[in-house]
Amino acid sequence: MRNLSRPLLVAYALMFSTVSLAQAENPKGWILNAESNEERFQLIQGYLRGFDQPMWEVGERYEKVYEALTRENYKLAGYHWRKIKTTIQNGYLKRPKRQPNADSIFFNGTWKSVKEAFDSADKKKAWKAFEEGKGACMACHRAEGVGYMNDQSLFELK
Ligand code: HEC
Repeated sequence: MRNLSRPLLVAYALMFSTVSLAQAENPKGWILNAESNEERFQLIQGYLRGFDQPMWEVGERYEKVYEALTRENYKLAGYHWRKIKTTIQNGYLKRPKRQPNADSIFFNGTWKSVKEAFDSADKKKAWKAFEEGKGACMACHRAEGVGYMNDQSLFELK
């Protein structure tokens, strides 16, 4: 027992000293501890990332659209489709250069006609719209020079 408890004590001591060291370096937390507001906003801006982060959400939601259609839950499909629009358009704030292709390829009428097909709750129309939407996602990836994005399982859902 005695032989075992010594290394354990040393380990605990090390653990607590690391924790208090980190607190001493950063007493107010990683944002408030910055020297200036400029530096704080830089931290937040970097943390919020670029277009990849909204696209990640768009990908997750597109999979949810697929799931909603398999359940014939057209309201849910429409919900995610609306959130996809918000997410892409919020992404323009971060990367304005993505807007022209998104507007001309995705929001050129495709977004709206897909939405109307989901609202119709017509199974055939809704699945056709799913394919149409997917085609527009993939076309924008090609136009933006990231065509390799299209070679992943998400775009094999049908
Ligand atoms: C501007 C046109 C554009 C449209 C429209 C678009 N994308 Fe993207 N997408 C991109 C770009 C650009 C990237 C790469 C982002 C980066 O490199 O920071 C990307 C990346 C992605 C990624 C990878 C994200 C990651 O980091 O894992 C997924 C998934 C994705 N898009 C899905 C979709 C889906 C699904 C749609 C349609 C509902 C869609 N995209 C519509 C431009 C677009």
